[in-house]
Amino acid sequence: MLKFDFSLAFQETLESGLSFSELTSSSDEAVSALEQVLDSRPGFISLLEDSSIVSLVERQNDWLKSFEDFVVIGIGGSALGNAALHSALRPLNWNSPGFERGGFCRVFIMDNVDPELISSLIDELNLGKTIFNVISKSGETAESMANYLIVRDHIRKNGLEATKHFVFTTDPEKGALNQIAESEGIRKLPIPENVGGRFSVLSAVGLLSAFSEGIDISALHEGAKYGLERYARNDFKSNPMLVNALLHYLYLRKKHNISVMMPYSNKLYLLADWYRQLWAESLGKKFDVRGKTINVGQTPVKALGAVDQHSQIQLYNEGPKDKIVTFLKVESFSKNFKIPSLHQDVESLSYLSGKHLSELLNSELAGTALALSENGVPNLTISFPLVDAFHVGEFIVFYELMTATMGALLKVNPYDQPGVELGKKITYALMGRDGYDDIRQRYQERDSWRFEI
Ligand code: PA5
Repeated sequence: MLKFDFSLAFQETLESGLSFSELTSSSDEAVSALEQVLDSRPGFISLLEDSSIVSLVERQNDWLKSFEDFVVIGIGGSALGNAALHSALRPLNWNSPGFERGGFCRVFIMDNVDPELISSLIDELNLGKTIFNVISKSGETAESMANYLIVRDHIRKNGLEATKHFVFTTDPEKGALNQIAESEGIRKLPIPENVGGRFSVLSAVGLLSAFSEGIDISALHEGAKYGLERYARNDFKSNPMLVNALLHYLYLRKKHNISVMMPYSNKLYLLADWYRQLWAESLGKKFDVRGKTINVGQTPVKALGAVDQHSQIQLYNEGPKDKIVTFLKVESFSKNFKIPSLHQDVESLSYLSGKHLSELLNSELAGTALALSENGVPNLTISFPLVDAFHVGEFIVFYELMTATMGALLKVNPYDQPGVELGKKITYALMGRDGYDDIRQRYQERDSWRFEI
């Protein structure tokens, strides 16, 4: 199971910040926040009540195995989890041409509408052997739909059939994608009504692409179920999720407005990206649940160890005291290198000889954590015994539950994103979509004042 070390997060070691007794004296608040979350029976928890979603995805095997490339067309919660699973659970060179994939697919993510990205991805694919998974809960997000239309046209021009090369993952009742799938007989998989984008990685949204590349989705699901058992307990001191949620909440109240996640592992880096969206979009809110203006949230930042020690750590150590840092540590890497004993006569290199790269990386993590603590920057470390599907499943549920619990502590709705919706509507207006004339007019009027250089 994942391990949690909070030793460097308290006044007792930092000589400043939150004391352990301040934390424990608020523990009831965290427990009741968790109870509120569990009572509301959120969709991301219902997904784990049985393994029907795993069976549904595994049943796609027959048609899926005729493909070599799997492309996710989606954005935000409909793509970040897929990218994180791909990066964490497949070798980093999985998509390389010569890599032996044992008949499983390469996985690509088409999320942005940058024409150069789309062009290079299309060039990379063997179209006749490619399945495109269009993922959109609403079935109408501009970026995903534009990319779908481009790819669909490309498929047609190459004399290929849409029904063979597309599978949609969308709301089973409504939206444009659902409508197209129904009328044309395109395969589709459901996103349950009560599962929102950024909480959907353990639904068909994240599982189909993972399954296509041979990730053990049963183990992922088992790890998540185990995580639910461990992190939904209302015993504060034995539940690291409650400790971490309350820690972040209380530090936010002390103006630690930034939450950094810093994996010391390239494979885990995109999990920090996934976390960044979950924390930002769920908790960054103008109104509380009663409609009072509160403009709350904690800005999530991702950094990569050891690389960002040479970029960010100066600021974290000596800049404003506005951060709480979470390190992700890997105890056992699937590959390792012993540093060769060369240049024995060069004194400044000799300490490296015979050590493993993993030992250097994890010593750098420990060194950075201790240096931060010397500077009074609260930090904690989450350790993966190894990076496998079970522990990644456990990690996902840990953060889903923690985000929902933090939402209850902050008294905001963690499942909506009105701030994103506004930007989407203005984009529709600017692109000339029917029904958005009043918005278009409002922004055209604003356009009368400009300061451009
Ligand atoms: O978490 C969310 O709800 C969002 O990030 C959505 O996933 C994103 O906006 C894409 O929406 P959709 O899945 O409807 O295309």
